Amino acid sequence: MDPLGWAKIRCPWRYYLPRLLLQLFLALCFFSYLRVSHDEAPKSEATAATTGPPTRSPLLLLLWTWPFNTPVALSRCSDLWPGTADCQLTANRSVYPQADAVLVHHREVSYRPEELLPPSPRPPGQRWVWFNMESPVHSPQLKALDGHFNLTMSYRRDSDIFTPYGWLEPWPGPPASAPVNLSAKTQLVAWVVSNWRHDSERVRYYQQLRVHLHVDVYGRFHRPLPRALMTEQLSQYKFYLAFENSLHPDYITEKLWKNALQAWAVPVVMGPGRRNYEQFLPPDAFIHVDDFQSPKELAQYLLALDRDHARYLTYFRWRETLRPRSFSWDLMFCKACWRLQEEVRYQTVPSIASWFT
Ligand SMILES: *[C@@H]1O[C@H](CO)[C@@H](O)[C@H](O)[C@H]1NC(C)=O
Ligand SMILES: *[C@@H]1O[C@H](CO)[C@@H](O)[C@H](O)[C@H]1NC(C)=O
Repeated sequence: MDPLGWAKIRCPWRYYLPRLLLQLFLALCFFSYLRVSHDEAPKSEATAATTGPPTRSPLLLLLWTWPFNTPVALSRCSDLWPGTADCQLTANRSVYPQADAVLVHHREVSYRPEELLPPSPRPPGQRWVWFNMESPVHSPQLKALDGHFNLTMSYRRDSDIFTPYGWLEPWPGPPASAPVNLSAKTQLVAWVVSNWRHDSERVRYYQQLRVHLHVDVYGRFHRPLPRALMTEQLSQYKFYLAFENSLHPDYITEKLWKNALQAWAVPVVMGPGRRNYEQFLPPDAFIHVDDFQSPKELAQYLLALDRDHARYLTYFRWRETLRPRSFSWDLMFCKACWRLQEEVRYQTVPSIASWFT
């Protein structure tokens, strides 16, 4: 496997090496300068805007809980994305009276919303953001949240703050010509499933598919697969079943972005319709179960692609100019902060329960 496309630049290295070393040296100098100046700056200035005359201080965004109660190391937002504004992010609730906005992740407050939401009355002008990446069927107690929030933040494209599980970025540098190493792909189809329900659509589909095609199933009750080894293991496979646990518009999760695409396995998707996927990915980047009359027909297609290397490789053509990225919590928090600073008009969803279905 060659995820970074090193193979294609092996030969010209000797030409680029001196230049690369010089750039590395300059980058190191710059970086240590930044560190020194950052460390020496007094605390109040360290959080002030870094460019232009002093305007107002960066937006203060309070994370009401850590998603799934798992703390995340916070980055400086202006470091995450060059040229962006800085933000003050904190999970320390003592800043609540001063916070410009409060980000409320759904899961932790869903158990007892009346008690677990931030206190009322809220400080004047403070905006509350409802944040959720789970699908509607896995988001209990939505009704109890109606009327509390000013902005929505989720994987849905029509959220005020759109935070997809993944996206494509331009490939940096010249087009990669042979982006995938076929000889490393010694296995055919993999699927990782932790939440196995016999009556679910994806399990029923799999039961029919396996009659015609061997699928290696990983996860609870199946082959173990440590998280740290997942991408490495899955990269041996030509195809990955990126089957969502429930079908909702825009609900296209890390099963596609991380499990399949990071492992350079061609995603076979089950989720919203093909058109919805095409709003996130080129049409030839994935195989949709709806493209086939039956699981048997899909199995025949995958077996044919296994024999036809040239055709299989067409599923990687988009990688000549694009590369996939998957989400991280800290980037999402910064995205919220940037968006809140834009002061654009946002749609106030009066009822989260009737919007998020
Ligand atoms: C939260 O902030 C307050 C006031 O600045 C500080 O006294 C307290 O130690 C902080 N708590 C944590 C857990 O950092
Ligand atoms: C936010 O929403 C709450 C509840 O609907 C409302 O009372 C408040 O005025 C809104 N705040 C802003 C800044 O829009």
